[in-house]
Amino acid sequence: MSLIEINNLIKKYNTGNETVLAVNDLSFSIEQNEFVTLLGQSGSGKSTLLTMLGGLAKPTSGKIVVDNIDVYELPSKTIADYRREYIGFVFQSFQLIPYLTVEENISLPLSISDLTNQEQKQLVKLILEKVHLEKKAKRLINELSGGEQQRVAIARALINDPIIILADEPTGNLDCKTSEDIMKIFCELNNDGKTIVMVTHNTAFKKYSHRSIELSDGRLIN
Ligand SMILES: Nc1ncnc2c1ncn2[C@@H]1O[C@H](COP(=O)(O)OP(=O)(O)O)[C@@H](O)[C@H]1O
Ligand SMILES: [Mg+2]
Repeated sequence: MSLIEINNLIKKYNTGNETVLAVNDLSFSIEQNEFVTLLGQSGSGKSTLLTMLGGLAKPTSGKIVVDNIDVYELPSKTIADYRREYIGFVFQSFQLIPYLTVEENISLPLSISDLTNQEQKQLVKLILEKVHLEKKAKRLINELSGGEQQRVAIARALINDPIIILADEPTGNLDCKTSEDIMKIFCELNNDGKTIVMVTHNTAFKKYSHRSIELSDGRLIN
């Protein structure tokens, strides 16, 4: 069985008297340790698919099975556990807290964990090394470049050691050179064993992944 199985997945949005079919009967699977890029024009359903994969939006119908767990059959409390244990999210806009330091931002998702302060510090240090930012732990977010901020966001996504990383246009706000650096970090994480699903506009980035999937009007093409 694959790590991620998507079966007849449908997501409709109802706004006023209009219904948008954002994801239209998708079925495919993703293997453990695969790096998949997800392409498609704006409005083709990429973000909708990613949020459903991440346990953030219930499908209208169909199912998502991750590691043999039928995600949307879980009670809503347990879906939060699924998100924390399985998923790390990285967004185009970083979504960091500007007036906190790098290490404070990264350890935020740990605040309810039962690690000691010392253990937390050790963990943050280890993760900062993975994104090559070990020297910036004490910096405030608004003192960092865009590429550094995205690396902090990636580090934050790693803090609970999820097996899946979902990234929605993580290089969308970055210049070419910085984007390549970020892609290399995703490749390193993939080599470390993470399964990665990344939305990108940049077809040149297909080369970093094992496989690319293209959506059009909520359906798979090619
Ligand atoms: N919360 C929402 N309410 C209503 N329509 C939405 C919502 N989110 C997305 N859509 C619509 O669903 C379609 C797919 O959107 P989205 O998944 O964001 O596509 P993409 O990420 O590929 O640009 C679009 O037509 C979009 O307008
Ligand atoms: Mg999108």
